[in-house]
Amino acid sequence: MRIPNRLAALAPEFAAIRRDLHAHPELGFEEVRTSELVAAKLAEWGIAVHRGLARTGVVGTLKVGSSPRAIGIRADMDALPMEEANDFAHRSRNPGRMHACGHDGHTTILLAAARYLAETRNFDGTVHFIFQPAEEGGGGGRIMVEEGLFRLFPCDAVYGLHNDTELPLGEIALMEGPVSAASDRVTITITGRGGHAARPHLTIDPVVVGAHLVLALQSIVSRGIDPAQPAVLSICQFHAGSAGNVIPDSALLHGTVRTRDETVRDRIELRIRELAESVAAGFGATAQVDYQRGYPAVINAPGPTEAAAKAAARVLGEENVHRTVPVRMGGEDFSYMANVVPGCFVRLGQRGPDGAGSTPVHHPRYDFNDEAIAVGAAFWAALVEQELPRAG
Ligand code: NI
Repeated sequence: MRIPNRLAALAPEFAAIRRDLHAHPELGFEEVRTSELVAAKLAEWGIAVHRGLARTGVVGTLKVGSSPRAIGIRADMDALPMEEANDFAHRSRNPGRMHACGHDGHTTILLAAARYLAETRNFDGTVHFIFQPAEEGGGGGRIMVEEGLFRLFPCDAVYGLHNDTELPLGEIALMEGPVSAASDRVTITITGRGGHAARPHLTIDPVVVGAHLVLALQSIVSRGIDPAQPAVLSICQFHAGSAGNVIPDSALLHGTVRTRDETVRDRIELRIRELAESVAAGFGATAQVDYQRGYPAVINAPGPTEAAAKAAARVLGEENVHRTVPVRMGGEDFSYMANVVPGCFVRLGQRGPDGAGSTPVHHPRYDFNDEAIAVGAAFWAALVEQELPRAG
C-alpha cells in the first residue's frame, strides 16, 4: 500500500476529527455542527467554501494552475435515527442519533484528502469537495443537484465512496454499470364494503381481496422479470379491520420495490397497478395504488470507473482492486449526481485483520474503522493527481 507520508502523519489528527463527528451525530438537513466543522476546516486550509445548498450542504473548491478541467468528490454527512449500543469514549452523545453507516468516516476521508491536496497542490485544474446532507432517505444529493450544484460547480466527473464492512482494509471494489438499487415505496388501498362477519354475502371483503393480491404480486418478479435481473418486491405491512366479527371497509398494503434497471423498474410499477386493479375488480372491490419513486440506481460510467480503478491500483496495488461489486439491493442517493455528470461510486474496505470495522452498517454496535481514513484519502488524492495532471 502506498500511503503518502504526509497523510500517514496526519492520521491521528483525522482519527480525532472522525471520533468527534461520531460523538455528535446529526440527522439529514440538521447537520449544523457537522457542516460548520467541515466549512471551518476547509477555510483554515485555504479552500474556498460555499454553503447553503440543500440547507446544510458544503462545497469546497480548490483550484490549482490554469487547466479548465474539474472533478467533484462527494461525501455524505448525516447519521441515522437510532440508539448507539457502543460504550467507547466517542459513542454518540445525541440520544436517538448514531453514525451507524460510517458517514462520519466518509466526511473525514474527504477532509483529509482536501487538506493534503491543499498542501501539496500537485495537480492542474479544479477539485470540488462536495459534502452533502441527508443521504439516509432525505435525498440531500438530489436537492443539491436541483439547487444548481453542477451549474455553480461544473465537473467533468464526480466520484463517491462507501465503506464496506465485508471488504478487507486496503482493498477497493468497483465496477461499471449499476452498483446500487433503485428503491421505491408502494401503498395499495383496497376498498370493499364492510359489514357483519356473519353475513359476508352482503359485503365485499377487502381482507380476502388483499390476501389474493399479496400472492398475485409475488408473481411479478418470479414470472415476469428476467431471472438475470435482480429485483425485489416485498409487501411488509397489511393493515385491516378492528374487530374479530366485523368485515372492514378497506385494507392497506405497504411495501418496497428494489431494482437495478429502469426498464425492470417501469415494468414492476406497471404490473403492480394492473394486478391491483384487476384483482380488486374481480371481487367487486377497487384498489388505489400510490407508487413513490425513491433513489434511482447508481450507474457507474465507463470513463470514471476506469480512472478510479487506475488510481486505486496505484495506491493499493492491482491485486487489491476488485472489478466486481457484490449485488446488494440498498439505495444510495449519489445516483442523482451520477445521473447528470459521469460518475463512479466505489466500495472502500474497512474490515481489519483483527475483525475491527466488521460490524455491519445500520447495526447499533457499528463503528467506522479509522485505519481506512488514510487509505481513502490517499485514493482520492491519487485520483485527483491522475485526472488533473500537471503539464510536462
Ligand atoms: Ni451509508
